[in-house]
Amino acid sequence: MASKSIHFLYLLIIWMAKTGVEATIGINWGRENAQRLIPSQVVDLLLQNGVREARVYTSREDLLQAFTGSGIGLMLSVNDLSILRDYNGCMKWVQSRMRYFNSSSVRLIYVGTYPFAFGLKDKAQLRGNIQVLYNLQKALNDVGWGHHVKTVFSHTSNELKPNIRKPSDAEFRDEIKLEMAETLRFLEQNNAPFVVDMIPSFELEIFKMDPLFAFVEKPTQVIKDLNEAVYTNIFEFVYDAFVWALIKMKAPNIKVIVGQVGWPTDGYARGNTSIAERFFKGLLPYVSSNKGTPLRPGAPIDTFVHALTDENKLPDFFMRHWGIYHSNGKPKFKIDLTGLGRDIYPSSAKGIMRMPERWCVYNGNRTDYSMVMKQLNYACMNTDCSSLKSGGSCNNITFKQNVSFAFNMYFQFKFQDEKACLFNGLSFITVENPSTPECTFPVEVVRGQQENYYKAKGYHHSPNNCVVSLFLLSLLLFWN
Ligand SMILES: *[C@@H]1O[C@H](CO)[C@@H](O)[C@H](O)[C@H]1NC(C)=O
Ligand SMILES: *[C@@H]1O[C@H](CO)[C@@H](O)[C@H](O)[C@H]1NC(C)=O
Ligand SMILES: *[C@@H]1O[C@H](CO)[C@@H](O)[C@H](O)[C@H]1NC(C)=O
Ligand SMILES: *[C@@H]1O[C@H](CO)[C@@H](O)[C@H](O)[C@H]1NC(C)=O
Ligand SMILES: *[C@@H]1O[C@H](CO)[C@@H](O)[C@H](O)[C@H]1NC(C)=O
Repeated sequence: MASKSIHFLYLLIIWMAKTGVEATIGINWGRENAQRLIPSQVVDLLLQNGVREARVYTSREDLLQAFTGSGIGLMLSVNDLSILRDYNGCMKWVQSRMRYFNSSSVRLIYVGTYPFAFGLKDKAQLRGNIQVLYNLQKALNDVGWGHHVKTVFSHTSNELKPNIRKPSDAEFRDEIKLEMAETLRFLEQNNAPFVVDMIPSFELEIFKMDPLFAFVEKPTQVIKDLNEAVYTNIFEFVYDAFVWALIKMKAPNIKVIVGQVGWPTDGYARGNTSIAERFFKGLLPYVSSNKGTPLRPGAPIDTFVHALTDENKLPDFFMRHWGIYHSNGKPKFKIDLTGLGRDIYPSSAKGIMRMPERWCVYNGNRTDYSMVMKQLNYACMNTDCSSLKSGGSCNNITFKQNVSFAFNMYFQFKFQDEKACLFNGLSFITVENPSTPECTFPVEVVRGQQENYYKAKGYHHSPNNCVVSLFLLSLLLFWN
């Protein structure tokens, strides 16, 4: 990690980049991946790229420790709500994290996993989350941190009634209106923001829009709304849809920030690096221009880019390829995270080593076909085969290559352990690169921070699993 004086220099650069730019561009970092960056590498990477705020899906101390003194604003999450059930539990938690509040810039604490989206099906869980929102904020207020640190929820478009044609049609679903009204009053009292997490590739489909509506650039499709408002891209459309829904809940002035927005680079028909690059190339300068939206002209919209790295252990294939960076710390595409719109690659992460150029491949023996399928399925179940799926970058390879791809992914997930290339005699290790022009058979990086810390801490499952199951849920909700 960089020394204090280098940190100071970075902060100065960040401050200079910030002059005249009010809206914040942050970045999200999840750790559901086999090849995990270590927190100090991430802090360095953010500072080098002029990123001033980060959202993490945890409040683990190793991570808080790494951000201490970096000056980077931090959005934490609390997912293990059993320890926050009442005020005393919340106070204990706040006290256990106090030294980090004192020494780093924690701004928001996300409570739970999309409680309103899940609240459509589980009211008790929603009410439980609202209690935590209150109690945790009260504990923060009582130790004198309430002015700086706010408890919030994150929200998604499946909380809105479906079949929206224009933003002014938007309204929260009836089942959650009561709790929404209560939550909004609380956020207003605390001067806390309402956080919208966007999944533009989904939203384009559910709102039946031209694919080019994804981009903030020259208008293709134009959607006209009340008071001469004109929408030319999905970001402003979804933002103002929420503002309309909030107006209808008598919360017209609440600050709305975007806690997640991004574009996948694989595993999805319209997901590749050139589309992702184009998406951010239009979006980020728009955000830093403080242009605002038709309903909120000139309003700075704090926006969090999703995400720093891929998360190849997420259960939903679709969410596995949202990283700006490969696991080797090199950027996948050009993006200027300061919002200045420069045509640049972000800096690479330092100190990450690749493993040797070795791959595990299938020997092509089909005598026992059911054994081949069994081994293929085993490998895919325990690693990431999403690139093979329809729309993925490796969807057009032969059956033999398919099996090799799966075997190799498993082998690399296991850090090239030779015992991970057995597959009942169907595989061998090779130094000849099996990649094709479209489909990369990756060689992974050496072990970083992979210990299973959830088990070590006595948790039974990773809290992030519930974060991502939202995406499965949202699929269900979106499509019915
Ligand atoms: C944190 O700061 C507060 C004052 O703002 C102080 O009372 C408290 O002792 C500090 N706690 C730690 C652990 O540094
Ligand atoms: C990305 O996808 C678009 C649309 O499907 C396609 O036109 C373009 O060639 C693709 N780019 C790459 C690099 O695959
Ligand atoms: C192919 O696999 C079968 C068992 O499924 C084995 O008996 C046979 O020897 C293998 N062939 C070769 C050429 O390795
Ligand atoms: C798939 O691969 C074949 C050759 O292997 C090629 O002719 C074809 O155009 C490819 N299709 C796509 C959609 O890339
Ligand atoms: C390769 O595997 C994918 C995913 O399991 C499947 O959709 C595809 O049809 C397979 N391709 C071949 C040629 O077997």
